[in-house]
Amino acid sequence: MNYGIYNTTETASIIELFSRTFSDSEGPAEGQMIGELVNNLISQTPEQDISVAVARDGSDVVGCILFTRLAFENENESECFLMAPVAVRTDYQGKGVGQTLIEFGLTSMRDQGVKLAFTYGDPKFYSKTGFDQVTEQAFKAPLPLSFPHGWMAQSLGEEKIEALAGLSVCVPEFNKPELW
Ligand SMILES: CC(C)(COP(=O)(O)OP(=O)(O)OC[C@H]1O[C@@H](n2cnc3c(N)ncnc32)[C@H](O)[C@@H]1OP(=O)(O)O)[C@@H](O)C(=O)NCCC(=O)NCCS
Repeated sequence: MNYGIYNTTETASIIELFSRTFSDSEGPAEGQMIGELVNNLISQTPEQDISVAVARDGSDVVGCILFTRLAFENENESECFLMAPVAVRTDYQGKGVGQTLIEFGLTSMRDQGVKLAFTYGDPKFYSKTGFDQVTEQAFKAPLPLSFPHGWMAQSLGEEKIEALAGLSVCVPEFNKPELW
């Protein structure tokens, strides 16, 4: 298994990975929706606002995570990114690929100067990779959360960041109420 930043020639494989994995776990409609979301995120997001990490077995992409910018108003110093979505191919799940890929992705974001990573999902899984549940009072989510206890963050720098002032803005492809 190797972990790295994606290569643009892998885009179709990544979309296929998300569609299949979410179709397996959540049903075909969700698979199609997430496949389209990932396609749009990769094709529409300016380069400086997105980072994509993959897990490969040989040349096969078997895991992928996307990081996109989450901009907090009034915050110049804290560079924040949202880690979502995450997928590990169904037949590779439960072998540590997801956790290793997330660690790789977070290290790569830290190396790029990112101070704070957010995610939105199952706390049981994401707490294994250093995320803590946070409140919307401390860190305003870009849209209303239907599942507030899935809102999580972790500091990638030296200092513990306990709150950020003001509203947050996600990239346009995430600016859809049904995704939150
Ligand atoms: C969630 C996912 C990325 C985890 O990747 P993975 O490679 O299977 O995870 P790992 O093998 O590194 O870690 C497995 C651990 O996480 C737990 N875990 C895995 N998926 C979980 C989930 N959906 N919810 C809660 N815990 C989960 C396992 O119980 C296991 O715990 P253990 O180490 O105590 O036994 C993967 O299962 C997946 O792609 N699922 C379908 C899509 C999805 O739900 N994505 C996340 C939402 S964006």
